[in-house]
Amino acid sequence: MQEKFNYKLEQIGTIKTPYRDNAPYQPIDTDEGEFYIKINHQYLDGLNELKKFYYIYVIYYAHRINRKAEMVVAPPWAGGKKVGLFASRSPVRPNPIGLNVVRIKTIIKNRIYTSGLDVFDGTPLLDIKPYIKDLDDKSDANYGWIEGVKNKEHLSLHIKGIPHDD
Ligand SMILES: C[S@@+](CC[C@H](N)C(=O)[O-])C[C@H]1O[C@@H](n2cnc3c(N)ncnc32)[C@H](O)[C@@H]1O
Repeated sequence: MQEKFNYKLEQIGTIKTPYRDNAPYQPIDTDEGEFYIKINHQYLDGLNELKKFYYIYVIYYAHRINRKAEMVVAPPWAGGKKVGLFASRSPVRPNPIGLNVVRIKTIIKNRIYTSGLDVFDGTPLLDIKPYIKDLDDKSDANYGWIEGVKNKEHLSLHIKGIPHDD
């Protein structure tokens, strides 16, 4: 029988965004407003050399999820198509962990100012990692099941949260 582990994760900071209730499905690079990540003071030394990178991964805990995860989901922008949860970017997961790749604008003391994030204001931060050229770029990446969705180009604007005429 599989041994069951229950892990305890520690919040290492807080994400500040303009979003109280509605956030984009994915981060919008050109989003306006103030976006920053406030790191708890005991982790400040962990930011050394980070500002030499252009992009970071931001890993967060979607703390306002109050629904049980279902294994088949219909992404809101996919025209009713149903897919397995793990083939989706839904935040309603057994472990409601979200991932963003965002641009570092500047780092001032314990604040990392970034391009747009897709999270509600006050979201707990779990981790930050540098996005590293070649290591993290996959030039043969594809669209998976999204390739077969009708109006893929139009839907991809929804996925990326880019405003457009419906
Ligand atoms: C579709 S998820 C994508 C998350 C991440 N970009 C990813 O791919 O893992 C983004 C949505 O999560 C929701 N969300 C953001 N912050 C949240 C939080 N703290 N608690 C619950 N839901 C949150 C918002 O509705 C937002 O539109």
